Amino acid sequence: MTRIQWDGDRFQDRFDVLAAQGADVHGEATFVRAYRPVSVLDAGCGTGRVAIELDRHGVEVVGVDVDASMLATAHRRAPGVTWVEGDLAGLELGRTFDVVVMAGNVPLFTPPGTQAALVAGVARHVGRLLVAGFSLDRGYGLADYDAHAAAAGLRLVERFATWDRDPFTGGDYAVSVHEPDQGHRTME
Ligand SMILES: C[S@@+](CC[C@H](N)C(=O)[O-])C[C@H]1O[C@@H](n2cnc3c(N)ncnc32)[C@H](O)[C@@H]1O
Repeated sequence: MTRIQWDGDRFQDRFDVLAAQGADVHGEATFVRAYRPVSVLDAGCGTGRVAIELDRHGVEVVGVDVDASMLATAHRRAPGVTWVEGDLAGLELGRTFDVVVMAGNVPLFTPPGTQAALVAGVARHVGRLLVAGFSLDRGYGLADYDAHAAAAGLRLVERFATWDRDPFTGGDYAVSVHEPDQGHRTME
């Protein structure tokens, strides 16, 4: 199973340059904060861009990523935040979070064919909401994502075209918000 090897410092450099130029690099964190979560799981956290901003606003955050270089950069940037190295597919932290967020195309960077397991792994940790934003033109779309979410016991609440909450009208990017489906029954 092939996986991209990231260079955490190089990945973070891009955002640091954008921030230095005055760009807002915290749209995802702002979107999540609108739901007023006490706790957030940043799933596929990379260098911690979202988690660190939420932590700065007093939210209890845990960041999980499978890539050691990304996590090393995250830890250097915010040693006080809890960072967990692990695969979201099969993740078992033994607790839930108000919001689980996947920012930055996470389902597109998991090995092809493992998206259902990825969604199931994050769904196990959802207390109130799962928020995910990803591009729709790279072979994994909303029909698959919604089906994987439904299989994991989640139903769609709302969907936007951007992290600024522009209406979704069928473009090539979506931010989806799912919640536990109380009527969902597993086959166990
Ligand atoms: C483009 S980066 C986005 C990082 C961060 N969320 C952000 O928006 O800045 C995608 C991240 O997803 C992580 N990722 C993809 N599949 C994963 C999996 N199955 N388990 C854990 N992390 C995963 C990658 O290691 C990578 O750090």
